[in-house]
Amino acid sequence: MSISTVINCLKQNKDYFCHPIFTSYYKMIVCKTRLEIESEVNRCRALNQTVGFVPTMGALHEGHISLVEKSKTECDITVVSIFVNPIQFNNPNDLTSYPRTLENDLKLLEDVLTDIVFVPDVNEMYPEGIVVKEHYDFGLLESVMEGEHRPGHFNGVAVVVKRLFDLVNPNKAFFGLKDFQQLAVISSLVKQLNLPIEIVPCDIVREEDGLAMSSRNVRLTSEQRISAVEISQTLFKAQVLAKAYSIEELKSFVIEKINTVPLLQIEYFDIVDSINLQSVSSWDESKEIIGCIAVNVGEVRLIDNILFL
Ligand code: PAF
Repeated sequence: MSISTVINCLKQNKDYFCHPIFTSYYKMIVCKTRLEIESEVNRCRALNQTVGFVPTMGALHEGHISLVEKSKTECDITVVSIFVNPIQFNNPNDLTSYPRTLENDLKLLEDVLTDIVFVPDVNEMYPEGIVVKEHYDFGLLESVMEGEHRPGHFNGVAVVVKRLFDLVNPNKAFFGLKDFQQLAVISSLVKQLNLPIEIVPCDIVREEDGLAMSSRNVRLTSEQRISAVEISQTLFKAQVLAKAYSIEELKSFVIEKINTVPLLQIEYFDIVDSINLQSVSSWDESKEIIGCIAVNVGEVRLIDNILFL
């Protein structure tokens, strides 16, 4: 076992690592420029260390931290990026009001002993200005659900993720299953470009009452927060009813239920094949079927999903 692996094992056990012998060793590295991140990652690669990558837009919560923790168990070095990517926001108000909590984010990442954080500014990621030159084709994957309601969103995600992958050069990248369609798009990107990166899907992390954790949750007022819990609660009920209901009946159940909740406005609910994301009309049409929902709670747009089969 190499020294770096031993140190990594120790780093994963925070209490042990808090021993004075080790506290002087750990220091999270924060890189702001492409040159800095490339040289840090190259240094790790030269030591044969595997690199796990967690791309984020900040406003970190337990969901993000669970991705970091997973990366730490699977890779020698974990890199987290924090960058609010302007080109994936189709709604300018959403971009302006996206929560920015850098100081707290860095503290949370330090608490779980993250190795490297990459915090570029817009010029660093888009040195040629915010003109989208790359156009990816994800076919039917991007024409439904989020793709249909947020035109250009997935191209914006793919552009920034590809640029981040080029800089961080990870062995594995960790994405949450809450953004189910994003995960499908990123997996397709990696496949199309033949990138040597394993995409690791990670479970949705929920609040105690079931609401899926999201950076946007902090924008909910207390009344909106009470209503928002009905999104996941309705999906859980639908999961129980799935066997007894037809697809159409289940869709109507969810849509009608959400629309009776004050402050909630459903944008879409669809029941789809988990691989190609196309709507199904009967339960025997696919081996794995998932229900995906987007709901506006006032100005805050939330998404969630649940596996039926
Ligand atoms: O899921 C997110 O936070 C973003 O879409 C990502 C993957 C960091 C790209 O900006």
